[in-house]
Amino acid sequence: MWEGFPLFPEAASTIAGGVDALYLFMVAISVFFSALIFGAIFYFAMRYRRRTLEEIPKPIHGNMALEITWSVAPFFLLLLMFGWGTAVFFSNFHPPEGATEIFVTGKQWMWKLQHPEGQREINELHVPVGRPVKLTMATEDVIHSFYIPAFRVKKDVVPGMYSTMWFQPTKTGKYHLFCAEYCGNQHSGMIGTVYVMEPQDYEAWLSGAPRGETLVQAGRRLFERLGCQTCHRAGEEGRGPVLEGVFGSTVTLDNGSKLLADEAYLRESILRPAAKVVAGYRVQMPTFQGQISEEGLMQVIAYIKSMARKERTTTP
Ligand code: CUA
Repeated sequence: MWEGFPLFPEAASTIAGGVDALYLFMVAISVFFSALIFGAIFYFAMRYRRRTLEEIPKPIHGNMALEITWSVAPFFLLLLMFGWGTAVFFSNFHPPEGATEIFVTGKQWMWKLQHPEGQREINELHVPVGRPVKLTMATEDVIHSFYIPAFRVKKDVVPGMYSTMWFQPTKTGKYHLFCAEYCGNQHSGMIGTVYVMEPQDYEAWLSGAPRGETLVQAGRRLFERLGCQTCHRAGEEGRGPVLEGVFGSTVTLDNGSKLLADEAYLRESILRPAAKVVAGYRVQMPTFQGQISEEGLMQVIAYIKSMARKERTTTP
């Protein structure tokens, strides 16, 4: 319904409708009360103006019913906005199972994207329509923010951690991609295009796009070049935990606490091995900070994840 309205971006994802409805509700509430307040000021200024010099106004000392009304009514209205906003936020927060995973690296001043099958893109993202897509994002330098207005998704990409977000496009077409965080003098040029394609066109694009190694292959090569397998293996020589099946499992640390081995945990353990040590091991691993890029980290993690999958399929 906003197609012809130039200030409102096209709505092209499953969550766009929910975000717009909340946004319009808040705008409507704000407009209603602004009009009410300004109308009342104007009306009272006219209605109760001083008509003669002798007229002395009667002081008013309060009105309990009025006070309660204008405290309680906004309270429930704001609670409604809060509850509604929370519901939209959570539905937007958890990616559905089986989403297509794409890795994003921001750097001054471009977006680099890696598909699991090995295709790489710069400032362009090709995705299929009607399927959920999960982005795992990191930055090589400063804060950037990945923003696709037509999908109503935006997420800051902060140095030193992974940010994730997901969306499910509902319409084929070309959509703007922006960096929405001021990140240096060419920030305004850090833009791109998202191409939403029919699934068969997407498959054709995937097979036609120049592809190098898959993420897993690249990760395996890096894993071996960095010598990870010399310690991370079973038996006497295994000075580090075995990595098969670790991704997605619950790990017990030397302080007794437990955590889920996800991308963020693997990333931290590669860069700062002493941060979270698995129970029963001493920290002998050197830090790989500075020796591996964010893209490389994503590849190694993809490889470790692939070990987890292998493990799962072989155990009944
Ligand atoms: Cu990156 Cu602005």
